[in-house]
Amino acid sequence: MKSTSIGGSTPAPWNITTMNPAEAPWHLLLLADPSRARIKRYLPHSTCFAARHTTQFTPSGLGTLIGVCVLRPKDTEQKQWELMNIAVATAWQCNGIGSALLNRAIREMRERGAQQLEVGTGSFGDQLLFYQRLGFRVTDIEPDFFLHNYTTPLWERGVQHKDMLRLTLEL
Ligand SMILES: CC(C)(COP(=O)(O)OP(=O)(O)OC[C@H]1O[C@@H](n2cnc3c(N)ncnc32)[C@H](O)[C@@H]1OP(=O)(O)O)[C@@H](O)C(=O)NCCC(=O)NCCS
Repeated sequence: MKSTSIGGSTPAPWNITTMNPAEAPWHLLLLADPSRARIKRYLPHSTCFAARHTTQFTPSGLGTLIGVCVLRPKDTEQKQWELMNIAVATAWQCNGIGSALLNRAIREMRERGAQQLEVGTGSFGDQLLFYQRLGFRVTDIEPDFFLHNYTTPLWERGVQHKDMLRLTLEL
């Protein structure tokens, strides 16, 4: 199994692979989306990628799952896709794993001939910066989305998430 490299020299202790949606770990999925009901709806027919810690191999020989990325086509021709979930285990965040997962997904979407990748996210916070750094642009806003679609209020740094921004990456 090939390791991902940081800056082209030192091999990173993790790699990115495709993954069967049924193997996506709930503890990671729930980090990005606290609604189990929503996850159950989009996961079965999705395309998934996994980041695995490869220094300590699990009995399966694949390594511990430390990141997940879930995408779903929005149209039957599969020209438009939506990023439904992306999460990196808390201890591993800010090590470039989320960017590597999303870049891998973007590459795969381009190879499949997709034209746009969309994602919905909060209207402020680290996640917004994360997507914009990868080239996503704000294309729409859904006021009160988080109030209407989640039973638990979502707070970040003392501010409640209410509106959802829709971001789009032209592929
Ligand atoms: C969003 C997430 C997938 C990013 O993965 P990551 O491996 O931490 O991201 P990277 O290391 O590639 O990029 C880090 C950059 O993303 C932003 N960022 C994202 N999450 C951050 C966090 N929790 N803390 C600080 N910065 C964060 C920052 O701009 C950061 O850049 P910096 O290190 O120069 O400040 C990850 O933080 C995560 O799993 N968060 C919880 C789940 C979540 O919110 N998912 C997105 C739902 S819309």
